[in-house]
Amino acid sequence: MRVLLEPEAAELEKISGLPVETALPRAARFLNRLAEDRAFIEEEVLPLLREAQGAQEEWYVARRYDDPDGSYSLQLFVWPPGTGTRVHDHSSWGAYRCLAGTVLEERYERLDDGSIPDHARLKRAWRLDWGPEHGASTVLPGDGGIHRVSNPGEEVAVSVHLYGPRLREVDGRDYDPSRDYVCDRRD
Ligand SMILES: [Fe+2]
Repeated sequence: MRVLLEPEAAELEKISGLPVETALPRAARFLNRLAEDRAFIEEEVLPLLREAQGAQEEWYVARRYDDPDGSYSLQLFVWPPGTGTRVHDHSSWGAYRCLAGTVLEERYERLDDGSIPDHARLKRAWRLDWGPEHGASTVLPGDGGIHRVSNPGEEVAVSVHLYGPRLREVDGRDYDPSRDYVCDRRD
């Protein structure tokens, strides 16, 4: 990705070393700047929109850059109409911003104390549509950032995501609120 030329990589390195409460607003600013970079949109995002028209049935990560020491990961997601993730969390902090189309984010609150294996009781806390004009959304690691992202619209959507360093060995957890179930997600 063009974004990972020297100055941006240095900024990402810096953000990933910060405590989560300072890292998240910096990550959001980084993504907001990226969204306003016309060259980035033209070179990286528009080709994805063209290539995704009718070609894919599932959402996918079209580009990603993982820092060699695992301290951050920058990813471009493509969301064809009607696609969406499971309800999940990450073992790192995360920030994302919609760059084209609209994505729906649903955020959940965990009601149980995590003491029963494979069991999690969730309640939906809020849902919000995010478009390119709406800025970045941020999630805390683990229980503080349980969410689902989807594209219920009719246009392809593209979003850029930045994840910080992992705090656990696994990538995160997947939830099934219909049966109060949770399990670890490996890579
Ligand atoms: Fe996520």
